[in-house]
Amino acid sequence: MKTRLLEITFLSLLIASFASCNDAKQKEYTEAKTVQPTVAAIEGKKLMEQKCNLCHSPSSQETGRIAPPMVAVKSHYLDDNTSKEEFANAIWNFVEKPSKAKSKMKGAVFNFGLMPYQPFNEGDIRKIADYIYDYKIEEPSLNASETLTPSEIGMEYALSTKKELGKNLMGTIQSKGTLEAVTFCNKQAYPITDSMATAQNAKIKRVSDQPRNPENQASVKEIKYIKDFKRAIAAGNEVTPIVEHTNGMTNFYYPITTNTMCLQCHGNSKTQIEPLVLNTIKNLYPEDKALEYDVNQVRGIWAITFDDNSINK
Ligand code: HEC
Ligand code: HEC
Repeated sequence: MKTRLLEITFLSLLIASFASCNDAKQKEYTEAKTVQPTVAAIEGKKLMEQKCNLCHSPSSQETGRIAPPMVAVKSHYLDDNTSKEEFANAIWNFVEKPSKAKSKMKGAVFNFGLMPYQPFNEGDIRKIADYIYDYKIEEPSLNASETLTPSEIGMEYALSTKKELGKNLMGTIQSKGTLEAVTFCNKQAYPITDSMATAQNAKIKRVSDQPRNPENQASVKEIKYIKDFKRAIAAGNEVTPIVEHTNGMTNFYYPITTNTMCLQCHGNSKTQIEPLVLNTIKNLYPEDKALEYDVNQVRGIWAITFDDNSINK
């Protein structure tokens, strides 16, 4: 598949250029049983996964590549002489208020645009930095499998759409601000550019039990799936897509979860959404139910249908 090949080439480049850091002395938290991770490290890892990996994930499959993987950030902020404290200070210095002047990764700023400002907590960032300093961070890996299951195909559609939406949303917030981005979200449909999606008559929807736009109201069945996903995520279980086959079609469902960036428009209406933004949302969506979310909650689901026939042909 062409897109896959492109991605692999791109990833190989990424790995070649980024994976040169001195990780040999790092502790292997996930694989090695010999090193007992500290409570602080477990917390740091979790915080990183929640707050950074949306953009800095090692796998571009999960998010689309919209920022360098964290292992690349690490290699630019760490050399043999960097102390743990210097490392945490440097990370916080940038994240507190990202700017081109402070950047040590001009190439990344050029490729992805400057990291958007997000109101992070200094204590959290220091825990994340300490974890990154002490432990080996996952590197991008390749999934060489060429034959895709319906579940993997659904996931590709979901992720490529999410990537496209996410990139445009972040881009609009960066260049024009949150207010302008609301109008962008309102007008923007999801153009299906993927040739496979076109061949399979793929229909890609985002639906919610608490929709902003009433057109995105989930059906009774979809609401049940949303409940199931909420339960799994609240319990900390791994989430797998729901896949059904009916009349030669595959129906695919997967949760859409919130992160810090979403709260500017879906968070606490008193403390997290600017009054002007809230006003605009209220005007555009008088029946809005998509407020008062926190991070890592199920905002809705991808509901994707496509033809079974053309799979892997
Ligand atoms: C919404 C997407 C997004 C999230 C979430 C995010 N970042 Fe970033 N970050 C970026 C992008 C894009 C870049 C590359 C451009 C740049 O360097 O500014 C980047 C770059 C960086 C850099 C390198 C900056 C430089 O240029 O020297 C650091 C350090 C960083 N991020 C830390 C973090 C940490 C820590 C978190 C989690 C608390 C985080 N980021 C969450 C988008 C994000
Ligand atoms: C700049 C404001 C803004 C940000 C930031 C934002 N959204 Fe939205 N979101 C909207 C608007 C406006 C709509 C309604 C779009 C429409 O009319 O279809 C919406 C709709 C949605 C929907 C479709 C269901 C519904 O409620 O109509 C989902 C799901 C969703 N957003 C999830 C997210 C997630 C997850 C994030 C963070 C990654 C996010 N949004 C960030 C403004 C925003």
